[in-house]
Amino acid sequence: MTNTTTYASYLGLERLLTAQHPTSDRHDELLFIIIHQTKELWLKEIIHEVRLAKRLIRSQEVEPAYKALARVSRIQTIMTLSWDVLATMTPADYLSFRGGLGTSSGFQSWQFRTLEYMLGLKDASFLSFQDEGSEALETLKAALEAPSLYDDAIQRLAAHDLHVPAEVLQRDVTLPYEPSPAVEDAWLAVYRDTKRYWELYQLAEKLVDLDDALLTWRHKHVLTVERIIGGKRGTGGSDGAGYLQRTLQRRCFPELWTLRTRL
Ligand code: HEM
Repeated sequence: MTNTTTYASYLGLERLLTAQHPTSDRHDELLFIIIHQTKELWLKEIIHEVRLAKRLIRSQEVEPAYKALARVSRIQTIMTLSWDVLATMTPADYLSFRGGLGTSSGFQSWQFRTLEYMLGLKDASFLSFQDEGSEALETLKAALEAPSLYDDAIQRLAAHDLHVPAEVLQRDVTLPYEPSPAVEDAWLAVYRDTKRYWELYQLAEKLVDLDDALLTWRHKHVLTVERIIGGKRGTGGSDGAGYLQRTLQRRCFPELWTLRTRL
């Protein structure tokens, strides 16, 4: 039998290229839609890779997980660069179609929140942005209720004879992670004896790459938002750039940052 696959059928181009529905006739709205759509596609790929990395780490195959995590960092670089494309849109361009967005907002990106939960930024209040009974809510809840990538990494610390208190190992993983002095001590031991703990050291640096890139992405988001809407409120109801500034405080792997002072 001949294979009738075509470039367009394989890639689902018919659906992909007809999935842009501007609410206005303004030239820049297409860019606004496409930037968001590519971000959602990249998030899909990132979630796919983080799922793999988590599976590998949990089954003690830490080295193969580095490859998936390195790929995530590269994708994050592209996502951060794409802010420069969006910044070619002026405030007037954006305001000319902003009304059509209604109350839709990045707050409702369930993939972004799933990623945050998978990395360890647990905050159940964001569940309320998804519709009851939706698949998005189910996926998000599953990520909230599962141990995060950081919980998995901390389990590896314990598996390497490093002391991690039982209350950390058996914590309620749906709650925000509380930094622990004992976990910081354990990571410090890794950084002080990298030869002995090479596997954990490599893992820790890959995690810092991810956190660093996520913060860089957030930072460019705030800058772009200030550039385009100044201090206006967000379409999702927050105080806008002020809210986004505060998200720069979020650290997925807090002790991996704080230990550095003590080295
Ligand atoms: C004109 C461009 C943009 C403006 C003015 C803007 C503004 C905002 C504001 C004010 C918020 C806070 C929530 C709210 O009140 O709505 C927000 C959240 C968010 N935006 Fe944007 N945004 C823009 C473009 C984008 C793009 C292109 C992306 C993705 C590529 C994006 C992704 C997100 C995400 C994921 C959140 C949630 C952040 C969090 O809670 O940590 N935004 N945005």
